[in-house]
Amino acid sequence: MSQSPLASSGPWDEVAERYDDAATEVMRPFSAHALALAELSPGAHVVDVAAGPGTLAIPAAARVARVSALDFSPLMIERLVRHAEAAGLDAIDARVGDGQALPYAEDSFDAGFSLFGLMFFPDRARGFAELHRVLRPGAIAVVSSWAPLADSSLMTLLSGAFQAGIPGYPAPQPNPENLENPEVFEAELRAAGFTEVSVRAHTESFAYDSAEQLWDRLTRGSAPLQLARSRFDEETWKAQEHTMIEYLAARYEPNRPLTTTAYLGTGRK
Ligand SMILES: C[S@@+](CC[C@H](N)C(=O)[O-])C[C@H]1O[C@@H](n2cnc3c(N)ncnc32)[C@H](O)[C@@H]1O
Repeated sequence: MSQSPLASSGPWDEVAERYDDAATEVMRPFSAHALALAELSPGAHVVDVAAGPGTLAIPAAARVARVSALDFSPLMIERLVRHAEAAGLDAIDARVGDGQALPYAEDSFDAGFSLFGLMFFPDRARGFAELHRVLRPGAIAVVSSWAPLADSSLMTLLSGAFQAGIPGYPAPQPNPENLENPEVFEAELRAAGFTEVSVRAHTESFAYDSAEQLWDRLTRGSAPLQLARSRFDEETWKAQEHTMIEYLAARYEPNRPLTTTAYLGTGRK
Protein backbone atom coordinates (compact mmCIF):
# COMPACT_ATOMS: atom_id res chain seq x y z
CA MET A 1 0.00 0.00 0.00
CA SER A 2 1.46 3.41 -0.90
CA GLN A 3 2.04 5.69 2.06
CA SER A 4 0.60 9.21 2.23
CA PRO A 5 3.29 11.88 1.71
CA LEU A 6 2.06 13.35 5.02
CA ALA A 7 3.48 10.28 6.78
CA SER A 8 6.95 11.78 6.35
CA SER A 9 8.30 14.89 8.03
CA GLY A 10 9.28 16.83 4.86
CA PRO A 11 5.89 18.44 4.10
CA TRP A 12 5.44 19.35 7.79
CA ASP A 13 8.89 20.93 7.96
CA GLU A 14 8.05 22.91 4.86
CA VAL A 15 4.91 24.46 6.38
CA ALA A 16 6.04 24.61 10.04
CA GLU A 17 6.46 28.37 10.18
CA ARG A 18 3.25 29.15 8.30
CA TYR A 19 1.34 26.43 10.22
CA ASP A 20 2.43 28.10 13.43
CA ASP A 21 1.41 31.56 12.18
CA ALA A 22 -1.96 30.66 10.68
CA ALA A 23 -3.23 27.07 11.06
CA THR A 24 -3.02 27.03 14.85
CA GLU A 25 -5.93 29.52 14.97
CA VAL A 26 -8.22 26.66 13.99
CA MET A 27 -6.42 24.00 16.04
CA ARG A 28 -6.11 25.93 19.31
CA PRO A 29 -9.77 25.67 20.46
CA PHE A 30 -9.69 21.90 19.94
CA SER A 31 -6.56 21.69 22.11
CA ALA A 32 -8.30 23.80 24.77
CA HIS A 33 -11.25 21.41 24.70
CA ALA A 34 -8.95 18.37 24.93
CA LEU A 35 -7.17 19.87 27.96
CA ALA A 36 -10.52 20.55 29.64
CA LEU A 37 -11.62 16.94 29.02
CA ALA A 38 -8.46 15.63 30.69
CA GLU A 39 -9.06 17.55 33.98
CA LEU A 40 -5.33 17.73 34.70
CA SER A 41 -4.00 18.22 38.19
CA PRO A 42 -1.22 20.80 38.70
CA GLY A 43 1.29 18.05 39.54
CA ALA A 44 0.62 16.08 36.34
CA HIS A 45 3.27 14.97 33.85
CA VAL A 46 1.73 14.86 30.37
CA VAL A 47 2.87 13.76 26.93
CA ASP A 48 1.85 15.41 23.65
CA VAL A 49 2.52 13.20 20.61
CA ALA A 50 2.78 14.91 17.20
CA ALA A 51 2.78 18.17 19.09
CA GLY A 52 3.42 20.48 16.11
CA PRO A 53 4.51 23.97 17.25
CA GLY A 54 3.04 23.38 20.72
CA THR A 55 -0.65 24.10 20.13
CA LEU A 56 -1.51 21.96 23.17
CA ALA A 57 1.90 21.54 24.83
CA ILE A 58 2.42 25.26 25.49
CA PRO A 59 -0.91 25.95 27.26
CA ALA A 60 -0.58 22.59 29.04
CA ALA A 61 2.88 23.53 30.35
CA ALA A 62 1.41 26.64 31.96
CA ARG A 63 -0.85 24.52 34.13
CA VAL A 64 0.90 21.20 34.91
CA ALA A 65 4.24 20.16 36.38
CA ARG A 66 5.87 18.82 33.22
CA VAL A 67 5.11 18.33 29.50
CA SER A 68 6.99 15.99 27.19
CA ALA A 69 6.32 17.00 23.58
CA LEU A 70 7.37 14.99 20.55
CA ASP A 71 7.08 15.55 16.80
CA PHE A 72 8.95 14.05 13.84
CA SER A 73 9.35 17.49 12.21
CA PRO A 74 12.48 19.23 13.56
CA LEU A 75 11.13 22.60 12.40
CA MET A 76 7.85 22.12 14.30
CA ILE A 77 9.88 21.29 17.42
CA GLU A 78 12.04 24.36 16.83
CA ARG A 79 8.89 26.53 16.85
CA LEU A 80 7.64 24.81 20.00
CA VAL A 81 10.93 25.42 21.82
CA ARG A 82 10.88 29.06 20.75
CA HIS A 83 7.35 29.51 22.18
CA ALA A 84 8.35 27.81 25.43
CA GLU A 85 11.35 30.11 25.79
CA ALA A 86 9.31 33.22 24.97
CA ALA A 87 6.72 32.26 27.59
CA GLY A 88 9.40 31.42 30.17
CA LEU A 89 8.15 27.83 30.41
CA ASP A 90 11.02 25.53 31.33
CA ALA A 91 8.97 22.47 32.29
CA ILE A 92 8.83 21.25 28.67
CA ASP A 93 10.95 18.47 27.31
CA ALA A 94 10.72 18.72 23.48
CA ARG A 95 12.08 16.00 21.23
CA VAL A 96 12.18 15.07 17.57
CA GLY A 97 10.89 11.53 17.19
CA ASP A 98 8.34 9.15 15.74
CA GLY A 99 4.99 8.86 17.52
CA GLN A 100 4.92 5.18 16.57
CA ALA A 101 8.05 4.47 18.68
CA LEU A 102 7.97 6.75 21.70
CA PRO A 103 11.30 7.36 23.45
CA TYR A 104 9.72 7.16 26.92
CA ALA A 105 9.57 4.44 29.56
CA GLU A 106 6.28 2.70 30.22
CA ASP A 107 3.95 4.05 32.91
CA SER A 108 5.51 7.54 32.70
CA PHE A 109 2.61 9.98 32.24
CA ASP A 110 -0.62 11.07 33.95
CA ALA A 111 -2.24 12.06 30.63
CA GLY A 112 -1.42 11.67 26.94
CA PHE A 113 -2.59 13.64 23.91
CA SER A 114 -2.34 13.48 20.15
CA LEU A 115 -4.35 16.22 18.45
CA PHE A 116 -4.68 15.78 14.67
CA GLY A 117 -1.36 13.88 14.67
CA LEU A 118 -1.84 10.17 15.33
CA MET A 119 -4.51 10.24 12.59
CA PHE A 120 -1.63 10.54 10.05
CA PHE A 121 0.43 7.60 11.32
CA PRO A 122 0.79 4.81 8.76
CA ASP A 123 0.52 2.35 11.67
CA ARG A 124 -2.19 3.87 13.84
CA ALA A 125 -2.41 0.72 15.97
CA ARG A 126 1.24 1.23 16.96
CA GLY A 127 0.52 4.88 17.68
CA PHE A 128 -2.38 4.00 20.02
CA ALA A 129 -0.38 1.13 21.61
CA GLU A 130 2.61 3.39 22.25
CA LEU A 131 0.40 6.07 23.83
CA HIS A 132 -1.12 3.38 26.06
CA ARG A 133 2.30 1.95 26.99
CA VAL A 134 3.74 5.24 28.27
CA LEU A 135 0.69 6.15 30.41
CA ARG A 136 0.39 5.26 34.08
CA PRO A 137 -2.49 2.96 35.04
CA GLY A 138 -5.62 5.11 35.37
CA ALA A 139 -4.21 7.90 33.15
CA ILE A 140 -6.36 9.42 30.40
CA ALA A 141 -5.59 9.65 26.67
CA VAL A 142 -7.23 12.24 24.40
CA VAL A 143 -6.82 11.85 20.63
CA SER A 144 -8.51 13.92 17.92
CA SER A 145 -9.28 13.50 14.25
CA TRP A 146 -11.51 15.41 11.81
CA ALA A 147 -15.11 14.34 11.30
CA PRO A 148 -16.23 13.65 7.70
CA LEU A 149 -15.89 16.69 5.47
CA ALA A 150 -19.65 16.82 4.84
CA ASP A 151 -20.13 17.64 8.57
CA SER A 152 -18.01 20.77 8.27
CA SER A 153 -19.20 23.83 6.33
CA LEU A 154 -15.67 25.26 6.47
CA MET A 155 -13.97 22.17 5.03
CA THR A 156 -16.73 21.67 2.45
CA LEU A 157 -16.31 25.23 1.17
CA LEU A 158 -12.51 24.96 1.00
CA SER A 159 -12.60 21.59 -0.68
CA GLY A 160 -14.98 23.01 -3.32
CA ALA A 161 -12.46 25.80 -3.98
CA PHE A 162 -9.58 23.29 -4.34
CA GLN A 163 -11.56 21.26 -6.84
CA ALA A 164 -12.52 24.39 -8.78
CA GLY A 165 -8.92 25.63 -8.99
CA ILE A 166 -6.57 22.63 -9.00
CA PRO A 167 -6.84 20.28 -11.96
CA GLY A 168 -7.05 16.68 -10.76
CA TYR A 169 -7.69 17.62 -7.12
CA PRO A 170 -9.58 14.56 -5.89
CA ALA A 171 -13.19 14.90 -4.79
CA PRO A 172 -13.19 13.96 -1.11
CA GLN A 173 -14.49 10.47 -0.43
CA PRO A 174 -15.81 9.41 2.97
CA ASN A 175 -13.44 6.84 4.46
CA PRO A 176 -15.27 4.59 6.95
CA GLU A 177 -12.00 2.79 7.76
CA ASN A 178 -10.26 5.69 9.42
CA LEU A 179 -10.87 7.78 12.53
CA GLU A 180 -13.59 9.85 10.85
CA ASN A 181 -15.73 6.82 11.66
CA PRO A 182 -16.41 6.95 15.45
CA GLU A 183 -16.93 3.17 15.58
CA VAL A 184 -13.44 2.57 14.14
CA PHE A 185 -12.03 5.22 16.48
CA GLU A 186 -13.57 3.50 19.53
CA ALA A 187 -12.47 0.05 18.36
CA GLU A 188 -8.86 1.21 17.86
CA LEU A 189 -8.74 2.77 21.35
CA ARG A 190 -10.10 -0.46 22.84
CA ALA A 191 -7.71 -2.64 20.81
CA ALA A 192 -4.78 -0.71 22.30
CA GLY A 193 -6.04 -1.60 25.80
CA PHE A 194 -7.93 1.58 26.73
CA THR A 195 -11.07 1.31 28.86
CA GLU A 196 -13.89 3.81 29.52
CA VAL A 197 -13.60 4.65 25.83
CA SER A 198 -15.71 7.45 24.40
CA VAL A 199 -15.64 9.31 21.08
CA ARG A 200 -17.49 12.63 20.98
CA ALA A 201 -17.95 15.24 18.27
CA HIS A 202 -16.83 18.76 19.03
CA THR A 203 -17.63 21.72 16.75
CA GLU A 204 -15.95 25.12 16.56
CA SER A 205 -16.89 28.08 14.36
CA PHE A 206 -14.75 30.66 12.63
CA ALA A 207 -15.60 33.83 10.70
CA TYR A 208 -13.54 35.93 8.33
CA ASP A 209 -13.69 39.53 7.09
CA SER A 210 -13.44 38.47 3.45
CA ALA A 211 -12.86 35.53 1.11
CA GLU A 212 -9.23 36.65 0.79
CA GLN A 213 -8.73 36.54 4.53
CA LEU A 214 -10.43 33.15 4.74
CA TRP A 215 -8.12 31.84 2.01
CA ASP A 216 -5.00 33.20 3.68
CA ARG A 217 -5.79 31.99 7.21
CA LEU A 218 -6.93 28.53 6.17
CA THR A 219 -4.42 27.63 3.48
CA ARG A 220 -1.16 29.38 4.40
CA GLY A 221 -0.04 26.63 6.78
CA SER A 222 -1.75 23.67 5.12
CA ALA A 223 0.59 20.73 4.42
CA PRO A 224 -1.88 18.99 2.02
CA LEU A 225 -2.27 22.22 0.01
CA GLN A 226 1.50 22.72 -0.03
CA LEU A 227 1.83 19.25 -1.57
CA ALA A 228 -0.77 20.08 -4.24
CA ARG A 229 0.97 23.39 -4.94
CA SER A 230 4.39 21.78 -5.43
CA ARG A 231 3.13 20.13 -8.65
CA PHE A 232 2.78 23.51 -10.42
CA ASP A 233 5.05 26.37 -11.41
CA GLU A 234 4.61 29.74 -9.72
CA GLU A 235 2.66 31.36 -12.58
CA THR A 236 0.23 28.45 -12.95
CA TRP A 237 -0.33 28.36 -9.20
CA LYS A 238 -1.06 32.11 -9.10
CA ALA A 239 -3.79 31.66 -11.73
CA GLN A 240 -5.25 28.68 -9.87
CA GLU A 241 -5.16 30.57 -6.60
CA HIS A 242 -7.05 33.41 -8.25
CA THR A 243 -9.77 30.95 -9.38
CA MET A 244 -10.02 29.50 -5.87
CA ILE A 245 -10.35 32.91 -4.20
CA GLU A 246 -13.02 33.87 -6.76
CA TYR A 247 -14.86 30.64 -5.95
CA LEU A 248 -14.81 31.57 -2.26
CA ALA A 249 -15.80 35.20 -2.88
CA ALA A 250 -18.89 34.03 -4.79
CA ARG A 251 -19.97 31.80 -1.90
CA TYR A 252 -18.72 33.37 1.33
CA GLU A 253 -20.59 36.26 2.86
CA PRO A 254 -18.07 38.15 5.05
CA ASN A 255 -18.26 37.40 8.78
CA ARG A 256 -20.60 34.42 8.30
CA PRO A 257 -19.54 31.73 10.80
CA LEU A 258 -18.32 28.49 9.28
CA THR A 259 -18.07 25.35 11.37
CA THR A 260 -15.63 22.51 11.58
CA THR A 261 -16.13 19.34 13.58
CA ALA A 262 -13.63 16.93 15.06
CA TYR A 263 -13.99 13.72 17.01
CA LEU A 264 -12.23 13.59 20.34
CA GLY A 265 -11.60 10.08 21.54
CA THR A 266 -10.82 9.47 25.21
CA GLY A 267 -9.84 6.34 27.09
CA ARG A 268 -8.15 5.28 30.32
CA LYS A 269 -5.24 2.92 30.80
C1 LIG B 1 -1.95 18.79 11.79
S1 LIG B 1 -0.46 18.86 12.70
C2 LIG B 1 -1.06 18.87 14.40
C3 LIG B 1 -0.10 19.54 15.32
C4 LIG B 1 -0.65 19.84 16.73
N1 LIG B 1 -0.93 18.63 17.46
C5 LIG B 1 -1.90 20.71 16.63
O1 LIG B 1 -2.97 20.29 17.09
O2 LIG B 1 -1.80 21.82 16.08
C6 LIG B 1 0.16 17.22 12.55
C7 LIG B 1 1.51 17.03 13.23
O3 LIG B 1 1.78 15.63 13.27
C8 LIG B 1 3.17 15.45 13.11
N2 LIG B 1 3.37 14.02 12.76
C9 LIG B 1 2.80 13.35 11.73
N3 LIG B 1 3.22 12.07 11.75
C10 LIG B 1 4.06 11.94 12.81
C11 LIG B 1 4.79 10.84 13.36
N4 LIG B 1 4.77 9.63 12.81
N5 LIG B 1 5.51 11.05 14.49
C12 LIG B 1 5.57 12.29 15.06
N6 LIG B 1 4.91 13.36 14.57
C13 LIG B 1 4.16 13.18 13.47
C14 LIG B 1 3.51 16.48 12.02
O4 LIG B 1 4.88 16.78 11.96
C15 LIG B 1 2.66 17.67 12.47
O5 LIG B 1 3.41 18.52 13.34
